[in-house]
Amino acid sequence: MEDSIPPPDRSSLTFDDIIRGRRSIRQYQPRAVAPELITQVIDAARWAPSPHGRMPWRFVVLTLPERKTCLADAMAVEWQRNLEMDEQPPEIVAIRLRKSRARVEGAPVVIIPCLYLEDLDQYPDVQRQQAESTMAIQSLGAAIQNMLLAAYQRGLDSGWMCAPLFCPDVVIGALDLDPALIPQALIMLGYAVQDPQRRERLPLETIIARWE
Ligand SMILES: Cc1cc2nc3c(=O)[nH]c(=O)nc-3n(C[C@H](O)[C@H](O)[C@H](O)COP(=O)(O)O)c2cc1C
Repeated sequence: MEDSIPPPDRSSLTFDDIIRGRRSIRQYQPRAVAPELITQVIDAARWAPSPHGRMPWRFVVLTLPERKTCLADAMAVEWQRNLEMDEQPPEIVAIRLRKSRARVEGAPVVIIPCLYLEDLDQYPDVQRQQAESTMAIQSLGAAIQNMLLAAYQRGLDSGWMCAPLFCPDVVIGALDLDPALIPQALIMLGYAVQDPQRRERLPLETIIARWE
């Protein structure tokens, strides 16, 4: 199975093809991802715009099965607590926990983009400090999009899970990370098992609020 499906060759795609072709994948082939491809994907993040050019992000890469399991175990406890708080029936809780664990453990590569705010400007007032943090979050989004597009162009697929947003300290504790890092997401990388159904996009004219 692992090597039965050759990785797609997307090297001749145009930039527009890459933007439109990138899709979220939730199930991956067991095929490993070459370390140089992971490095190239993270390198793409460096070219994103960021406030004052400070690059307020760091990336944690997990490829070892035991590290992914350790993360999945820790997040499952938090996830279960949230689902129970929402009064979900136990059988639904069990299914959702199983699926989310399978997503973490089943991806060949899990990248955890983290905010790193230590190099940002400090302001005496809450409003400007808050804006500084918002800028950091915006730029992390730009960095992640660079990574997703770079991955796609290289024949890889990716998926985005927001789970760490709800338990950043749990992620730090489980992986023994520097507490200055603020985990924001899980970005899965690998080779898609199948093409997903795409979500419809809003018509262009509906997203242009005003043009005058
Ligand atoms: C900030 C953010 C958080 C997301 N969180 C999740 C998530 O937790 N689980 C998931 O399956 N997809 C998640 N996604 C992926 C979206 O569901 C997906 O991008 C959207 O449905 C459009 O599909 P496409 O990426 O295939 O174009 C997230 C995307 C973003 C930008």
